[in-house]
Amino acid sequence: MPPDLGAGSVSITDAGGLRVQWQPEGHVSDYDSDWLRGHRGGADDAVPCGHAPATWGAELSEAMPGADHDAVTSSDGALLDWLRLLRDFGVAVLRGTPREPLSVLALAGLIGPARATNFGEHFDVLSKQEPNSNAYTALGLPCHTDLPNWERPPDYQLLHCLRNDAEGGDSVLVDGFRAADELRRREPAAYRLLTRFPIDFRFQDNESDIRFRAPTIGLDEAGTLAEVRFNFAVMDAISAPPERVGALCRALRAFGAVIRDPALECRYRLGPGELLIFDNRRVLHGRAAFDPRTGGRHLQGCYLDKDQLLSRIRVLERSAPLQ
Ligand code: OGA
Ligand code: ZN
Repeated sequence: MPPDLGAGSVSITDAGGLRVQWQPEGHVSDYDSDWLRGHRGGADDAVPCGHAPATWGAELSEAMPGADHDAVTSSDGALLDWLRLLRDFGVAVLRGTPREPLSVLALAGLIGPARATNFGEHFDVLSKQEPNSNAYTALGLPCHTDLPNWERPPDYQLLHCLRNDAEGGDSVLVDGFRAADELRRREPAAYRLLTRFPIDFRFQDNESDIRFRAPTIGLDEAGTLAEVRFNFAVMDAISAPPERVGALCRALRAFGAVIRDPALECRYRLGPGELLIFDNRRVLHGRAAFDPRTGGRHLQGCYLDKDQLLSRIRVLERSAPLQ
């Protein structure tokens, strides 16, 4: 860039765009008015993705956002609608998917390549011998987010149901942004503490030792809710000045009580051939205990980055009719 760069002449084109002839080199640039408006800064800065999330509670049990596998794979419009539901609600199901092992990776491929973690590119959620996660047992799992012990936890989690005929095992989902808002309303001091005070998270087994320290409720620069990290199974010891520990435990317990409030719980029983996707940095997930003597339960899972989802939406929007 020449240090004395400046606009030599500026005019409005017939199409309503802006034309600038730059000096000293005489280069001409045309700027579309919508593009200029989109880059003016200011009012929209607080919502970087351009949409505020619609938070939800128990009512979602009866109105789970979803779509049909055949529709989504045969029409870009249906795929776009489904991906927008996922982006905005932070959860969506896909019904009528192939009930074959590893379909979860092909289904992830509708959006983008899976993101591998210490649990592999995909993982089997089954009751296993010598499990390295409480997910691989028949125990109930209180609502949690996955892998808060990573600097960047996976954005989206996919769970593909191959079999679910044991007694129990229903899924529970809680909108972490709704829960955080609720905590702020009920116990503002606890909310403040959880947005500021970092928690140590750690997972270790024979192969890995992965640690990160971050607050339970993460805010962005504008103070908007950005993420929730909540998982007692991978919490490390609390390293805090003794006078802080009591308040921190009380705040975590208060947040846990909000998360267990039935008014916030979306309950859903995954059927074979259903794929559940949710935003792991916003939505907490859990399951009821199941009884492996009464039948089988087998999910296959993987993770995806949000950048892939948003990119897929933008590319599909290029050819979608204007709304
Ligand atoms: C997991 C998990 C829930 C389930 O695998 O991370 O929480 O429904 N599974 O088994
Ligand atoms: Zn989990």
